[in-house]
Amino acid sequence: MQYYKEILLKNGKSCIIRTADGSDAAGVLRCFLKTHAETDNLLTYPDERSFTEADERDFLDTHAARADSVELCAVVGGEIVGTAGFEPVGTQFKLRHRATFGIGVLRDSWGLGIGRALTESCIALAKQAGYRQLELEVLAQNLAAISLYQSVGFFEYGRNPCGFRTRDGEDQTLVLMRLLLV
Ligand SMILES: CC(C)(COP(=O)(O)OP(=O)(O)OC[C@H]1O[C@@H](n2cnc3c(N)ncnc32)[C@H](O)[C@@H]1OP(=O)(O)O)[C@@H](O)C(=O)NCCC(=O)NCCS
Repeated sequence: MQYYKEILLKNGKSCIIRTADGSDAAGVLRCFLKTHAETDNLLTYPDERSFTEADERDFLDTHAARADSVELCAVVGGEIVGTAGFEPVGTQFKLRHRATFGIGVLRDSWGLGIGRALTESCIALAKQAGYRQLELEVLAQNLAAISLYQSVGFFEYGRNPCGFRTRDGEDQTLVLMRLLLV
């Protein structure tokens, strides 16, 4: 899916929210590694990343060409400072109304409006793609993300007390949230 929007951030700088494609592979990977090293709120440990830059290029080109998924990037001053996207939960007919959402913004760009812009753009695109429900899982301790999700209409529909288990052996609760799109 193709998308392009320019927004003004809370610090007065301009930010472009657009579809990422294969030519963004290096920047998206850099952003992925940095966001995953900066916060423990995401699923993957940085050293668990199995994607090469070539894999990332294929992944982004594939998503950019598809009508049922997207990977957006937020670009400030030529640098990718955040990404967000959605993809189908499954291919079977009974699952086709559901998509899963994910997002990450570099820590030094938090609080500027980038997370909200990426989320709202994904919601608009998920509606355009014909989905009925957008879903996500978020750590219960990730209050900033939960606040963002609630503010755009996501509701909690359950909790998994053993959703994540960290390398330190800590069980972490995942909050399951969904947003009806119609
Ligand atoms: C969660 C995250 C995406 C928010 O991105 P952001 O660019 O800082 O968000 P924004 O500046 O657009 O703020 C949007 C909303 O988020 C919430 N929020 C942001 N920072 C917050 C904070 N420190 N405390 C509470 N709420 C906060 C507010 O509801 C805010 O609303 P506002 O627009 O009225 O200010 C970002 O912190 C992030 O990438 N964190 C690491 C990765 C992560 O946790 N991803 C989600 C996994 S489920």
